[in-house]
Amino acid sequence: MNTLKAVELNNVSYHYPDGVEALININLTIQKQEKVAVIGPNGAGKSTLITLLNGVRKAEGEIRILEYPVVKKNFPVIRAMIGIVFQNPDDQLFCPTIYEDIAFGPLNSGFSEEDIEKSVQDALEEVDLKGYENRSSFHLSFGERKRASIATILALKPEIIAMDEPTSNLDPAHRRKIIGWIKNRQETFIVTSHDLDMIWETCSRAVILNKGKIVADGTAKEILSDKIMLEENDLELPLRLQR
Ligand SMILES: Nc1ncnc2c1ncn2[C@@H]1O[C@H](COP(=O)(O)OP(=O)(O)O)[C@@H](O)[C@H]1O
Ligand SMILES: [Mg+2]
Repeated sequence: MNTLKAVELNNVSYHYPDGVEALININLTIQKQEKVAVIGPNGAGKSTLITLLNGVRKAEGEIRILEYPVVKKNFPVIRAMIGIVFQNPDDQLFCPTIYEDIAFGPLNSGFSEEDIEKSVQDALEEVDLKGYENRSSFHLSFGERKRASIATILALKPEIIAMDEPTSNLDPAHRRKIIGWIKNRQETFIVTSHDLDMIWETCSRAVILNKGKIVADGTAKEILSDKIMLEENDLELPLRLQR
């Protein structure tokens, strides 16, 4: 059967080793090519949720990516299907050069030398970093590092892209660039953010997470216009709706 489900979480919970209950019985299905925002106050569990998707952390309950259960034997296929862009690009860039950072995924997936070269060049082009191959991430600006971290996941051509706070710490020009980029992509997106204006422009659906639970799930326009519900969850209307 050709599935339409990109991401499926069934009764997913996660406790940190120190006992913090970060996620409690989450049920969430995301269809292919949906762009879904996960919003909520600090500590709601947004980043934790993202890290469960490719098995960085092991959840209780069941998570499926394009029907594949997120279990160890499926990690190689899952990590090619879903790319995660962490909030801090320094968590993603650890090689001496940008080329090596981007080639890392393809190399580990057993691409041929020729395919590695092509996927690195394509990814650099996508994020407007052609010519940066031999630069070190240590000497790049935050915006450039962010784009390089996006290139590391694009190199594997994932069908699903998860981004944790993609516009945080970016200058207005880089923020604009990321917004335009997300809008134009055809992949399935899961985006966490406090930047509700960015969500308004990029996402069709929004889920509110609070204290580890989903408290609302609807169209982005509906959720982001609901002043009372946003305030109950320590959020505010997007600036474009404030007057
Ligand atoms: N490494 C960790 N160890 C223990 N608790 C953590 C860790 N990371 C996050 N938490 C806790 O888990 C909860 C959810 O955190 P997080 O997923 O980072 O929330 P958000 O991204 O929505 O701000 C918070 O209570 C936070 O303090
Ligand atoms: Mg977070």
